[in-house]
Amino acid sequence: MSRILITSAIPYINGIKHLGNLVGSQLPADLYARYCRARGHEVLFLCATDEHGTPAELAAAKANKPIAEFCTEMHDIQATIGAGFGLSFDHFGRSSSPQNRELTQYFAGALADNGLIEEVTEKQVYSHTDGRFLPDRYIEGTCPNCGYEKARGDQCENCTKQLDPTDLINPCSAISGSTDLEVRETKHLYLLQSKLRDKLSAWIDSKTDWPILTTSIARKWLNDGDGLQDRGITRDLDWGVPVKRGTEDWPGMEGKVFYVWFDAPIEYIACAREWQDAGKGTDWESWWRTDKGADDVRYVQFMGKDNVPFHTLSFPATIIGADDNWKLVDYIKSSNYLNYEGGQFSTSQGRGVFQDQALEILPADYWRWWLLSHAPETSDTEFTWETFQTDVNKDLADVLGNFVSRVTKFCRSKFGEEVPAGGELSERGTALIADLQEKLGQYTAHMEAIELRKSAATLRSMWVAGNEFLQSAAPWSVFKTDPEAAAADVRLALNLIRLYAQLSAPFIPEAAARMMADMNTAPGAWPEDLPTVLTALPPGHAFTTPEVLFAKITDEQREDWASRFSGTRD
Ligand code: 2FM
Ligand code: ZN
Repeated sequence: MSRILITSAIPYINGIKHLGNLVGSQLPADLYARYCRARGHEVLFLCATDEHGTPAELAAAKANKPIAEFCTEMHDIQATIGAGFGLSFDHFGRSSSPQNRELTQYFAGALADNGLIEEVTEKQVYSHTDGRFLPDRYIEGTCPNCGYEKARGDQCENCTKQLDPTDLINPCSAISGSTDLEVRETKHLYLLQSKLRDKLSAWIDSKTDWPILTTSIARKWLNDGDGLQDRGITRDLDWGVPVKRGTEDWPGMEGKVFYVWFDAPIEYIACAREWQDAGKGTDWESWWRTDKGADDVRYVQFMGKDNVPFHTLSFPATIIGADDNWKLVDYIKSSNYLNYEGGQFSTSQGRGVFQDQALEILPADYWRWWLLSHAPETSDTEFTWETFQTDVNKDLADVLGNFVSRVTKFCRSKFGEEVPAGGELSERGTALIADLQEKLGQYTAHMEAIELRKSAATLRSMWVAGNEFLQSAAPWSVFKTDPEAAAADVRLALNLIRLYAQLSAPFIPEAAARMMADMNTAPGAWPEDLPTVLTALPPGHAFTTPEVLFAKITDEQREDWASRFSGTRD
């Protein structure tokens, strides 16, 4: 048994996420966590909401709510949606927690003590009316490039030119509209990550088993020169972790907070402490500190490709730079993007299916199965209502659901609701078991390697093999002449339902639990020797004939949803 720490990228608090967010990090992380638990490993699976930064402030302002209240509400909404999708976090924390505040301030202090933080004086726009420095995107004005009048201080959304606030013509505050602005000098902290280039480079080079997507992004940022520039880690905002050097005040940093991308990954650590403080576990440091037992922990992170630079360079720079026995990640599973009907899912534009909407129209397992079996592992992939309907109907309803239904209904009608006795395992049955044994080896290997699509494809092929067996064994015909032979085939098929339930649980936990319950049994250890495993339900073992496991998606439903989700959501 091993100890495995799993984190999913922590979603921004600023709104309900779409399906692309789910497939990129939380869902594969959950699949892996469920698999590792099923293998008997000790797992700590953590996620949280990413609550600081300008987007959070702007979203709260738009909702007309105090930011702390907005974040609490949105956190609860995201937690409920996560539970709806069956995400089995051991704790779903908050980056605005006191634990994260303390740890973020501690890391800044440790980095400063190690000579990795520099105070830099910069010029920044101050608004007299608002009584504060304005972050770049809080300043609006006319774009010097295209004349667009609502350009933001960081970028013109009309012509996409990157801007400095001082480039804008007629600048004003996006908060108050005031033009009473002044360019003032202010101090900020910079993390000197360029000093860590060699260490980071050697560390990335040692990760020969990482997905190419992860290492190629990391190397590009390392070698392009851009990625490892020293990085400002403070901002002039009210909402965030106040800048301190450990527990001490930091002269000149009054009223400033840490940049959201500095404190967000530290929340992975703080979340373990929140987990303990919430009474859900003990010894959080044994997961995170190599001097307290975390040397034995395997740490796996999940994220979309846009997050890779922060997790391969910036956060490791914080960990390595602090030089205080904190654990570095062992494996990073990254994801490409899922697109929606020929375009991109977009939170800001409200385009695509959002997580709450998805759960309103179908049970979580439909989404889990489709998203994981089409995970954008090697390239971007596309969600279309048509492929969704076709694949879900085929895999879940026609193959798995149909198998379960046919076996149990036939058994009930001829032998009653119990595993039938009599007969011997047929040649066909022996061949099926041999075939499944080989496939089980492949499935386990793919799950170990976190190969999502290959795992799903192999699992599906195991379902298909069962269906083909049933089709060719045709116990409904054989029963007429040789009821004992039919009983043996049905006995094997009922045991297959139990096996499928166990193997499929990481993908479709709700349906798998129902299959187990209907078979009146519970999963044992991870299956190894199938001739033994497939006799776990003995003759006479009672079961319940299940309700429909997966209803098919009708053409009317598909058309209705395609038109309902074709526009944008506010
Ligand atoms: O992309 C995002 O949704 C970010 N909030 C991910 C942060 S991951 C981590 F660093 F905390
Ligand atoms: Zn412009």
